[in-house]
Amino acid sequence: MYRSHTNGELRLENINNEVTLCGWVQKSRDLGAMTFVDLRDRYGITQLIFGEEHSEVAKSLGREDVIQIKGTVIERESKNKNIPTGEIEITVAELTILNKSKTPPFTIEDETDGGEELRMQYRYLDLRRNPLQNALKLRHKLSIEIRKYLDSINFFEIETPYLIKSTPEGARDFVVPSRMNPNEFYALPQSPQTFKQLLMVSGYDRYYQIVRCFRDEDLRADRQPEFTQIDCEMAFVDQEDVLNTFEGMIDYLFKKVKGIELSSFPRMDYAKAMEQYGSDKPDIRFGMTFNYINEVAQNKGFQIFDDAESVIAIVAEDCSTYTRKELDKLVDFVKRPQVGAKGLIYVKCNEDGTFKSSVDKFYTQDDLKAWADKCNAKAGDLILVLSGDKATTQNQMNVLRLHLGDELGLRNPNEYAPLWVYDFPLLEWDEDAQRYHAMHHPFTSPKQEDMHLLDSKPGEVRANAYDLVLNGTEIGGGSIRIHDKETQALMFKHLGFSEEEAKAQFGFLMNAFEYGAPPHGGIALGFDRLCALFGGQETIRDFIAFPKNNSGRDVMIDSPSPISSEQLEELYLETTPEA
Ligand code: AMO
Repeated sequence: MYRSHTNGELRLENINNEVTLCGWVQKSRDLGAMTFVDLRDRYGITQLIFGEEHSEVAKSLGREDVIQIKGTVIERESKNKNIPTGEIEITVAELTILNKSKTPPFTIEDETDGGEELRMQYRYLDLRRNPLQNALKLRHKLSIEIRKYLDSINFFEIETPYLIKSTPEGARDFVVPSRMNPNEFYALPQSPQTFKQLLMVSGYDRYYQIVRCFRDEDLRADRQPEFTQIDCEMAFVDQEDVLNTFEGMIDYLFKKVKGIELSSFPRMDYAKAMEQYGSDKPDIRFGMTFNYINEVAQNKGFQIFDDAESVIAIVAEDCSTYTRKELDKLVDFVKRPQVGAKGLIYVKCNEDGTFKSSVDKFYTQDDLKAWADKCNAKAGDLILVLSGDKATTQNQMNVLRLHLGDELGLRNPNEYAPLWVYDFPLLEWDEDAQRYHAMHHPFTSPKQEDMHLLDSKPGEVRANAYDLVLNGTEIGGGSIRIHDKETQALMFKHLGFSEEEAKAQFGFLMNAFEYGAPPHGGIALGFDRLCALFGGQETIRDFIAFPKNNSGRDVMIDSPSPISSEQLEELYLETTPEA
């Protein structure tokens, strides 16, 4: 028996027990006659005392050595209230060194001294640290509860293949060459979308899978090239059924994992989200919604506003005391290339009822009062205004709103505000390709009442598509699907597929639709993002045991990497001639 207890387990009631413990040396303190060692495993830390008879070896112990000890539990004289085992310690009778460790390149402590790149390179050491262990524990707990919830309402977990054919989810595919089929390639799934729809045709009715997906796209804090979805599909449902089922799951997870009862779960259509927040994933933990002030701001001689399609204002409550320097910083913020605004106009609503603005030359006190009234701004508030074409200005104002939300502490990570956004547009204009592509994916059904617009105003057709948003992050997306061949063919046509192309790529799905496909719909939630939000973090990386860095590399195993010319030849891939 390697160990009788873990290092997080022993308490006062274990006094005088003979125990055997294993673990890593966190640190040791040499007090002359005695040596104290903190022994760590994933359950906690237990303090060991080595007496004189062991002092030689005890002193030779280094950080991260793996040891086994036998000893007796005794009560500590100076108790440590900060850890659960802090009332006891072990007097060691026997020590076995199971394995020595080189000095680790960074300290294995909550606040480590290691830089990002170094920690990625030694990920197996970084994973010994508490913050990462807690993140993976949370992920484990969530996955268990998700399975419990879905199982309790009759969902089957079914695995679908990884070596498939391209599924369009808007990113590039990772492809895998086939040795047995020269010059042919599998694609790794961007999602199991077509397979889950086929499972509905097969009658499985309620499917789910916690599944790896692969997308070759630019990386961000909330994006990894391989990530995990909670992928779900249901037959004989409408949008309302899907939203209720997954609202139920999110409620359940908050209750079970965080002990939180969500107070509300509002729904907002896409048009309203864009109009009020300039975003299809608004963070509704705080207000600061948009006011369109064209009516009161235009035709007063200020050319920039006069020429603009939209003049949009937000109100920062109680910020009229902002200094010149603070305002300049906001102007610089919106002028950064990432935001791209030409400038920012402000109006201070002074406590004495007067106004001070950066456009006082053009507007009277009465004019500015009209702005304040239009925005419901009160004395003490600060009004910030951007203008330009509508979509761009909405977008810029969204960035400014979120920035102010951060600055003013309105985005508390311990507060949770879920939201359904629904009625997304079916199609999105792609400027580069000069054509429409599916905003969600080509299997999403158009709203019946908008079908007549498909030829004349394709951009105005709405889809039976919905996103789940939590604190301004898109956690999930789904839709009610097309389930008949004719509508699916029509969709492909509008997306610019020729009949042959559609048949070559998705013939299997259209054929399946001819054999009794039930009405169906579903959703996929980003599991890594859900974990990060539950853990109060914005980055998903630490909720994945072995993530990639920002260039999509695994620096620990050094991948991607070249393969041998033999392998290349075997796969019928061209080898580059030796220089
Ligand atoms: P969608 O493309 O919206 O829908 O993806 C669903 C959710 O997956 C998460 N996600 C990601 N997480 C981390 N890294 C990435 N690179 C990444 N890309 C997406 C997001 C997103 O909301 N088949 C459809 C679902 C359906 O229609 O049922 C789909 O994949 O949280």
